[in-house]
Amino acid sequence: MSKIVIAGGNKLEGEIKVSGAKNTVLPILAATLLNGGKNIIHDCPDLKDVSASLQILERLGCKIQRQGKTIIVDSSSIKDYQIPDHLMREMRSSMIFLGSIIARCRKAILSYPGGCEIGPRPIDLHLKALRQLGVKTSEAHGYIYCDVDRLEANDINLRFPSVGATENTMLAAVLAKGTTIIRNVAKEPEIVDLQDYLNAMGAKISGAGTSVIKIEGVSKLHDVEHTVIPDRIVTSTYLAAAAITGGTVKVTNTNPENLQAVLAELRECGCEIYLEKNAITLSRPSVLQPVDVIRTLPYPGFPTDVQALMMAVLTLAKGTSIISETIFENRFKHVEELIRMGADIMVDGRVAVIRGVEKLTGANVNAMDLRGGAALVIAGLAAEGVTIVEGVQHIDRGYENIEDKLASLGADIKRVD
Ligand code: EPZ
Repeated sequence: MSKIVIAGGNKLEGEIKVSGAKNTVLPILAATLLNGGKNIIHDCPDLKDVSASLQILERLGCKIQRQGKTIIVDSSSIKDYQIPDHLMREMRSSMIFLGSIIARCRKAILSYPGGCEIGPRPIDLHLKALRQLGVKTSEAHGYIYCDVDRLEANDINLRFPSVGATENTMLAAVLAKGTTIIRNVAKEPEIVDLQDYLNAMGAKISGAGTSVIKIEGVSKLHDVEHTVIPDRIVTSTYLAAAAITGGTVKVTNTNPENLQAVLAELRECGCEIYLEKNAITLSRPSVLQPVDVIRTLPYPGFPTDVQALMMAVLTLAKGTSIISETIFENRFKHVEELIRMGADIMVDGRVAVIRGVEKLTGANVNAMDLRGGAALVIAGLAAEGVTIVEGVQHIDRGYENIEDKLASLGADIKRVD
């Protein structure tokens, strides 16, 4: 298994370009099933989760081509409507295929996507919304069985603005008969990008980015070409790396509008931030200041995916900060590992109290999930001595060669097998 080895202490300096967003590519790849034609998607990052999604599409009968960061999916002939256990287990967010498989095949069989490192990851909201569109669902032997004669529009209210449930419901409703309204939807930028993709293939959707999405069902969709939006979580990762090392980093091909809550907290802890239309420059001239409380919330609140990254930065602030993780049940797996590096963090349920320390020291640490792993890498950049991060496979799910990207900014970091 690979490890990432970091000799801490270098200030990061320079410019780094962000690729397309993992969390928009995944639902868009699911959407390629809908048009039974050609889908050209640009600026796709080379990630394990993207490869896992392409394996699923191939298994269903799609033809895939990859040309650099462009992925071409031909979904004209679909031969299956099942996602087998091993593919579901490889990536629990494969759940996002359910709505589009049902819309295309009028049936679907998925193995139950077990929980993952950050919590049980239930799918009740997905299944409830699909049932309201006329889908019959049953669960047995660890599988979910779905079928429908004809998807019928409905007025659906999500009990929680779940990103995945919003996406699955949109994907299922595009070809339903009538006009579907989905209320209390997730408002993430990735939902807007999915709406843009679907409308580019002939769907009639409006409201993404607000609390209510309206979908006028259509009978036919056509070929589409699309460039995905930049990854706001990867952007936040590079900014946090600059903040913790005290360097100056310019992140390009990014959209500052999509991460205002993160920028506000970085300013709160003493960073200077200069914004351009598609770029963010962060420097941290003075000492890191604590933040009174960060509460993770659905967009546009502070994103749960940046919680671990911000915690790493706050371990070195001159004072005490509080982080409340309101979205996932178990998203503090990185705390124990940060404590091994000398951090002073106390967790009580979903609340972490971070008392700033003078320094972190390098240690052998374990990445337990995607963003927690990235947080350990960031902490290693600022720690005194050498940090060895194991469990790199988690990090590779959401970051393209994280060690090369950080090394290009002056970090002393390498991957060893
Ligand atoms: C998406 O996951 C993202 N993944 C996650 O990013 C992100 O953390 C999350 O949204 C929140 O922003 C992708 O887009 C592929 P949710 P998703 O449904 O859709 C509960 C990363 O690091 N819930 O909004 O699974 C659920 O348990 C990943 O890139 C139900 O109770 O998130 C959780 O507590 C990690 N019932 C909360 O809602 C349901 O049916 C938020 O989940 C569905 C969800």
